[in-house]
Amino acid sequence: MTELRVLITRQQIGQRIVELGAAITRDFRDEPIILVAVLKGAAIFLADLARQVQLDATFDFIGVSSYGARPSPDEELKLGWDSTGEVRLTKDLDQSIAGKNVILVEDILDTGLTLAFLKKLLVDREPKTFRIAALLDKPSRRKLEIRGDYVGFSIPDEFVVGYGLDYAEMHRNLPDICVIPRG
Ligand code: IMP
Ligand code: MG
Repeated sequence: MTELRVLITRQQIGQRIVELGAAITRDFRDEPIILVAVLKGAAIFLADLARQVQLDATFDFIGVSSYGARPSPDEELKLGWDSTGEVRLTKDLDQSIAGKNVILVEDILDTGLTLAFLKKLLVDREPKTFRIAALLDKPSRRKLEIRGDYVGFSIPDEFVVGYGLDYAEMHRNLPDICVIPRG
């Protein structure tokens, strides 16, 4: 098993989420919000963020997968992550978001393909407001111009796992965010 190196500790994550929750609470004052988490990576972030938001909040979940030639996880680690494929919806929302305040909750903003796809899909349904909360951001990897409104941490181009993020479905339950060394 490769050595994992801690990049962001559970304490740092917890402190930052308190700040993000306070910002969301402030921005939406007393309006209700829908937190839409992207399966599966954002599940843990959603659980912690939601409890730092002092507003009426409901949850929904959306699922996506990338079409086509995504390399295997091993290749991804060697060559660097490259989600050039198209994004496809695997699970839609359970409710209408028209006229509602929607915050899309994602684990990591990488090339931006996933969030650009989801943003278009959801904004077309005419919510009252649409915001993006991303725990992590790898700005150096961006292919499409898209930014998060509530971003936890900007990180370098490393492959990270833990706190919901996986490597071939593994390591999602690590409490800290860790780097899998390349090479
Ligand atoms: P994007 O479409 O390239 O922005 O990729 C977003 C998705 O790729 C995220 O939802 C993650 O599932 C996955 N991803 C990107 N970078 C990493 C990483 O470093 N570790 C684990 N998953 C990642
Ligand atoms: Mg993933």
